[in-house]
Amino acid sequence: MSAGPSAVPREPSLAAIVSRTLGAGAPESLVELLPVLTSDLGEIDQRIQKVLQSNYPRLTEAAGYAVSAGGKRVRPLLMAATARALGLPSTGRIGALAAAFQLIHTATLVHDDVIDHAELRRGRPSVPRAFGLPSAIVTGDYLFVRAFELAAEYPRSIILRCGESCADLVEGEVLQDAGRFDLTSGRDHYFRVIERKTAAIVAAALASVAEIVEAPAASVAACEEYGRSLGIAFQIRDDLLDVYGDPDLLGKPRYTDLREGNPTLLSLEAHARLGGTEREEFERLFGLRRKQPSDLFRLRALTDTTDAATAVAEAAEGWAERAVRALEPLPDGPYRTLLEWLARGAAARRF
Ligand code: IPE
Ligand code: IPE
Ligand code: MG
Ligand code: MG
Repeated sequence: MSAGPSAVPREPSLAAIVSRTLGAGAPESLVELLPVLTSDLGEIDQRIQKVLQSNYPRLTEAAGYAVSAGGKRVRPLLMAATARALGLPSTGRIGALAAAFQLIHTATLVHDDVIDHAELRRGRPSVPRAFGLPSAIVTGDYLFVRAFELAAEYPRSIILRCGESCADLVEGEVLQDAGRFDLTSGRDHYFRVIERKTAAIVAAALASVAEIVEAPAASVAACEEYGRSLGIAFQIRDDLLDVYGDPDLLGKPRYTDLREGNPTLLSLEAHARLGGTEREEFERLFGLRRKQPSDLFRLRALTDTTDAATAVAEAAEGWAERAVRALEPLPDGPYRTLLEWLARGAAARRF
């Protein structure tokens, strides 16, 4: 493996991460849950740290670098909240599974940064940038394998859910690649991509939690639908932030999707709203394999002339409301309120 990063910034405390993810303006009833959630996430983190030890210190280092860079911890938070909403008194029974899904998520980010040629992740050099491409590929593989080691303690149906969702996300990345630089791929293609690359693992993670706690079939289906809709909202918002987000808050630069030619809901809606020569110009610039900064700024300026950003923000909110409605079969209580809050937060987030 090539040299690692020279200076690694310290990771914020878990309490700070959870409170940041919950966001400003959370109602007092949710702020009160912070100590419990922080402790749940602490247990999940410990399981992750334990399973990452390898006989090859550089691999342990690269894997540790990938997992320890903060991140919002949305997936483990959702899993812990779902378990508690379904009446589990602690995360004990779902801890290893939450660790597995967080490792799967991290693995996808490492590989995604290879695919997207991304230099920055969570405010510091991405794994491919810090350790080199070959190391990033094997580090991603390693994280996937360790995730399945953790999942192996669960029944076959849960392991299959994990496997299916990983296959989905690989298909999502492949589908995305097939539509690169092509705005005619359309909205259906876009939704097929994001359902697979992002929503599938959230849906699988939450349905698995419901299954492990032996919730009724209607609740398992509700958790799956909630996770899928939230995942879609989350990715639509991510795509909006690619153009309109604050890179300092996000920890990743703007315009990666534009540069890489990934059609997002934003670029599709902008393209659909433009007419005449502006539409042709948008298409031509979007299709360029090598874009200059001026090309990216022009794509942004053309987008600004439409109301695509508003339409996309509303689309994300619509999916969040769909997630909230999906929760109806679940018992009422603070953790269900938390799930509702997190869904709306996914659609309104700034980082
Ligand atoms: C990034 O996921 C990849 C997408 C699905 C958009 P997150 O935004 O959850 O990444 P971290 O873990 O918080 O850094
Ligand atoms: C989400 O896609 C990545 C995965 C789900 C693997 P993006 O490419 O939009 O994620 P970011 O923007 O790099 O975090
Ligand atoms: Mg990416
Ligand atoms: Mg993105």
